[in-house]
Amino acid sequence: MASALEEPLNLAPVTEGQNGTIGANGTSSSTKSQYDPNFTDNVIKATGPKANKRLAQLMPGLVRHLHDFCRENEVTVEEWSQSVEFLNECGRMSDDKRNEGQLFWDILGVESLVDEITYKVAADSGEKPTTTAILGPFWRPNAPIYPMGSSTILKDQGGDVTHMHGSVTDFTTGKPITNAEIDIWHTAPNGLYEQQDPEQPDMNLRGRFYTPDSGDYDFYCLRPTPYPIPFDGPAGKFLKLLDRHPMRPAHIHFIISAKGYKPVVTQIFDRRDEWLGNDSVFAVKDSLVVDFAPKQGDEKAGFDLKYDFKLVAVEDAKNGVHGGTEVTSA
Ligand SMILES: [Fe+2]
Repeated sequence: MASALEEPLNLAPVTEGQNGTIGANGTSSSTKSQYDPNFTDNVIKATGPKANKRLAQLMPGLVRHLHDFCRENEVTVEEWSQSVEFLNECGRMSDDKRNEGQLFWDILGVESLVDEITYKVAADSGEKPTTTAILGPFWRPNAPIYPMGSSTILKDQGGDVTHMHGSVTDFTTGKPITNAEIDIWHTAPNGLYEQQDPEQPDMNLRGRFYTPDSGDYDFYCLRPTPYPIPFDGPAGKFLKLLDRHPMRPAHIHFIISAKGYKPVVTQIFDRRDEWLGNDSVFAVKDSLVVDFAPKQGDEKAGFDLKYDFKLVAVEDAKNGVHGGTEVTSA
């Protein structure tokens, strides 16, 4: 059966009365059509007294916004059916190597938005802890653990080998953090993560490193490459319908975690990248843009990148120090 999204949506305005006969569900004072004025309230009131507390808090607003959206735009049954098929397609395409649902939220900017909401900036702080960015759909658990100084490159596919190094410290005290886990992942020069590419070894360009007492880390990886998010599925079709490109600026993903500290999920971006101001998932933040410097005297790497991670202790977070984020530059 052909996908509901293979043909562009017909977005021509619906003529008044076409989708608003008396007795149809819903009404809104903001539209001229006559809908049942009690419909939305009835749906909200259906929630029972033993409902999950957070859901009971969230659902009235969600239902109201959804219903108003449908009324204001006079959404037709055909259009709604396409949205159902779209979500089903996202589910069918997702498995342990592909997360199409998350990709969809990403291209709508929702993961970046909730990331910003979750990690508010300490407003009075001139210096900030390491800024967060979205996890994205390509993280895999249980990446191999390597000793410091190792390489995550399991197969030579070209690219600029980079020696990345720095420290993991306590944001408040500046002291080094021992046994912090640095989980890193990025694409190969062909723009594909290893789980997307049968030519790459399993867990290529991924790794976990644990800091010694000094809190210092170093390893070899690649200077990242810009890549398109997968556009062979429903999220890609959606981008096409919106006349949007799928490109992400070159970046490396990290999760930095340590006992007693708030974990930081983040990405760093190559300043040279042409897509920096136009990220398809809206994740770029100024403090995460870095400069790769040419490196001399290291036969393994042609580039050098120093980056320090600053974590907030859980106790400090309780006292108002927050993991940082900032307005996105994209
Ligand atoms: Fe990525």
